[in-house]
Amino acid sequence: MRVPVALTIAGSDSGGGAGIQADLKTFAALGVHGASAITSITAQNTREVRAIHDLPPEMVVAQIEAVADDLGVDAAKTGMLSNAGIIRAVAGAVEKYGFPLVVDPVMIAKSGARLLREDAVEALVRDLIPHATVVTPNKPEAEAITGIKIRSLGEAREAARIIVEDHGAEAAVVKGGHMTGEYSIDILYYKGRYYEYKAERINTNTTHGTGCSFSAAITAMLARGESIPRAVEVAKEFITTAIRYGLRVGGGHGPVNPAAWTIIPAEKYRVLENLRRAIKILEENGRIVNRLVPEVFINIGMALPAPYARTIDDVAAVPGRIGRYRDSIIVKAEPEFGVSSHVARAILAAMKYDPSVRAAANIAYTREVEEAAKKLGLVESSFDRREEPPEVKAVEGKTTEWGISTAVERAGGRVPDIIYDYGEHGKEPLALVFGKTAVEVAEKIIRIGKVIEANSPWLRR
Ligand SMILES: Nc1ncnc2c1ncn2[C@@H]1O[C@H](COP(=O)(O)OP(=O)(O)OP(=O)(O)O)[C@@H](O)[C@H]1O
Ligand SMILES: [Mg+2]
Repeated sequence: MRVPVALTIAGSDSGGGAGIQADLKTFAALGVHGASAITSITAQNTREVRAIHDLPPEMVVAQIEAVADDLGVDAAKTGMLSNAGIIRAVAGAVEKYGFPLVVDPVMIAKSGARLLREDAVEALVRDLIPHATVVTPNKPEAEAITGIKIRSLGEAREAARIIVEDHGAEAAVVKGGHMTGEYSIDILYYKGRYYEYKAERINTNTTHGTGCSFSAAITAMLARGESIPRAVEVAKEFITTAIRYGLRVGGGHGPVNPAAWTIIPAEKYRVLENLRRAIKILEENGRIVNRLVPEVFINIGMALPAPYARTIDDVAAVPGRIGRYRDSIIVKAEPEFGVSSHVARAILAAMKYDPSVRAAANIAYTREVEEAAKKLGLVESSFDRREEPPEVKAVEGKTTEWGISTAVERAGGRVPDIIYDYGEHGKEPLALVFGKTAVEVAEKIIRIGKVIEANSPWLRR
């Protein structure tokens, strides 16, 4: 099977957030081989574009030809084209090969710098858009191309229609990133029909490269043989994830994170694997663990790596928890994400202090547990619910976070191996065991259990 090839014809962003760099990351994440034809080199970071050096149009064409003549191009996109000479040269090459083409009509960078000369807008509309399979303007670009002012979804639809019916593109997506409102809505016009793609507007400044990654994602899906509406649908989901998990680097608009698309599922798999191994360790030592099961049962959880661990949905644990059964334990179900609130909140709270501590489990708190932890030299801390400020108590689900923060601060800002929650009326006392992985937590629990057993000969059988 030949791997699909996608080609990006665009500028280089030295900051790695947009342009060629964003496109190649997107292609890789969507399983196509990415090739590139660089139009212009920019000296750029998350704050500003410092210098621009355009390549000669012949050099741009030579790159396109080198790729097309050997690898073949299943779909291509254009990004920053900079001037009319490059636009005309690219249009000629596109015509020669006839591959599907996504035109992202880049005009102005997020930082405000002009990436297309004013006098080149006409060349873009006249020479390139007629060859486009899909054109993906943002609001100001759609306004510049069509001459209409876009203040509503209705006007966005009208602009998309004009780009297809008057300017000759096969389809157009007018993007909603520069609009306002609770949702960021993109409008596709294709074959006389309108399609709407809607995602919650994310309040973040990691939006450097949104347009590039979005059009690259459409290109990758076209290279894979998907229809235009389906390609845009996947691209919308892709860019929403890339924005949500944007990269916190630089002092300006941080880069979007196209790799999130593949990293999150991969890390989910690793977390579930680790939890399964941890559960197996607990089961193999069921007789020891049995005595550590509290009334509320044991749960063990593990979170995604720090940048991806935002809410309790990013933490996996055992649905139904781990109970007692005869002189052993019973694990109610396979681990899953988003099924625990207590242990998940404890992990997320600990990760604020040390992102490497991604796992925890709750066991019963007894004097024996505390003695065993001391004997093993574990780092301990505790919190007392009676000290919880009333304003925290008033908010449902905040106690765990408050308790863990209090205990970590008490331990000098370091996440301890074990935190005692002394409970209160109607709340059984618990011990929370922390570790980098669920397996590490399970092993700590077994060590605690073994010390208790060794100290109490009558428990042995
Ligand atoms: N804050 C946001 N939350 C959710 N989606 C967003 C947000 N900002 C942009 N998008 C989406 O990202 C995609 C790119 O749209 P946008 O209008 O930002 O493009 P652009 O202005 O060309 O970006 P760039 O400045 O990177 O070139 C669209 O699907 C848009 O709906
Ligand atoms: Mg753009």
